[in-house]
Amino acid sequence: MDVCNMEKPCGEMMTRTLCMPKDTNPSGDIFGGWLLCEMDNAGYLLASRIAGGRTVTVAIDAMEFHLPVFVGDTIGCYCEVVKQGKTSITIKVEAWIKRQFEDCYAKATEGVFTFVSVDENRKPRSIETSNA
Ligand SMILES: CC(C)(COP(=O)(O)OP(=O)(O)OC[C@H]1O[C@@H](n2cnc3c(N)ncnc32)[C@H](O)[C@@H]1OP(=O)(O)O)[C@@H](O)C(=O)NCCC(=O)NCCS
Repeated sequence: MDVCNMEKPCGEMMTRTLCMPKDTNPSGDIFGGWLLCEMDNAGYLLASRIAGGRTVTVAIDAMEFHLPVFVGDTIGCYCEVVKQGKTSITIKVEAWIKRQFEDCYAKATEGVFTFVSVDENRKPRSIETSNA
């Protein structure tokens, strides 16, 4: 993969999605809320894999939007665990875009997502227990 500058994506790519016209805001660019949803989904996949079961998002911090995203761009969400507690997992999520018909990738957005492992009653569940 060629990167547009020297920076590299963090962690593991969990999702890759083509940006479609239905995902736009009234100005025709990709809607920030849709990007946040993609990033939340990507973090959820990693958190739930580590927890060995269901997780819910409890907090989203430090969201930054660096570049506009357009219809036809491909967005890859990269995830890296930055902290793991008794029931919570905090994951840095970066969304990298590849512009249509271009070869290089650039970081468009980033944020820190915290997930909590929960049981069938939606109560926090120890990650060690859930993996036992
Ligand atoms: C997530 C939820 C189950 C936590 O319940 P709770 O009674 O607040 O649980 P606790 O206070 O015991 O905290 C559980 C863990 O979350 C962490 N946590 C709670 N609030 C947090 C916050 N705002 N930011 C970061 N971590 C937080 C705690 O530090 C704790 O981590 P640890 O066990 O690793 O030390 C509850 O808040 C909830 O159901 N929230 C709604 C979740 C949701 O619907 N999300 C959207 C759809 S996925």
